Amino acid sequence: MDDNSQRPRSADQVQAHRGASAVAPENTIAAFRAAKEQGARWVELDVALLGDGTLVVMHDSTLDRTSSGYGSLADITQAELVRIDAGSWFDPRFAGEVIPTFEQTLAALGELELNVNVEIKQHAHHKSLAQLTDAVHKSLQDRNERTGIMISSFDDQALAAMARLDADYHLAMLWNEVPADWQAVLDAIPAKAVHLNYRNLTFSFLEATQNRDIAVRAWTCNVPEKLAPFWAEGLAGVITDNPKLYLN
Ligand code: G3P
Ligand code: MG
Repeated sequence: MDDNSQRPRSADQVQAHRGASAVAPENTIAAFRAAKEQGARWVELDVALLGDGTLVVMHDSTLDRTSSGYGSLADITQAELVRIDAGSWFDPRFAGEVIPTFEQTLAALGELELNVNVEIKQHAHHKSLAQLTDAVHKSLQDRNERTGIMISSFDDQALAAMARLDADYHLAMLWNEVPADWQAVLDAIPAKAVHLNYRNLTFSFLEATQNRDIAVRAWTCNVPEKLAPFWAEGLAGVITDNPKLYLN
């Protein structure tokens, strides 16, 4: 990829998916540190609530896949997090890595001078959407103000709730495929960005969104050649497990 038109123009267009999750356990401080070491300026992470209302950085609603624990997030409390190993499943080198709370993560990102795309996960165990979005909003208000943020979700109601809490949030609707009523969904939130499965990205969607001043970013693409034709057509960013592929 020697042609500069076929790559991101700026490191700000590259987001490390769950941190640099190709080289470190996803959604851990180690993964965010690895993203920084690769030259990333942005990380994407997932947030959800424990049963006690603590906001944690975690993709799944259960502990099983990415930690030494078992069962639902609903059944653990913040005090129990330190006993759960969230690193060894990925590589023994990461033994002792924990599931970070969102507040701990924001503090770490502040020190690392990383910006963050906060993906709000809506799980069945959550008591209410308001509990979730209020917790996200409160944590973000307390962050280091130099930490740039955007908020994304597959749940348009979560984004709408965030818009009501602060009309200045940069909100991104997450889709696997673009729905027929995409303009109406974005207008209702309101949101000015779409994060789309890169496999379903098209030139015609990029053109339609650019005409409406909507930013489009593609997830989760670890093969830069797949996106090469889209940068010159206005692609705004990529979310990738391996940011160094785009940054070198
Ligand atoms: O932000 C893009 C991507 O994270 C959406 O899917 O399942 O990896 O959270 P998922
Ligand atoms: Mg995500």
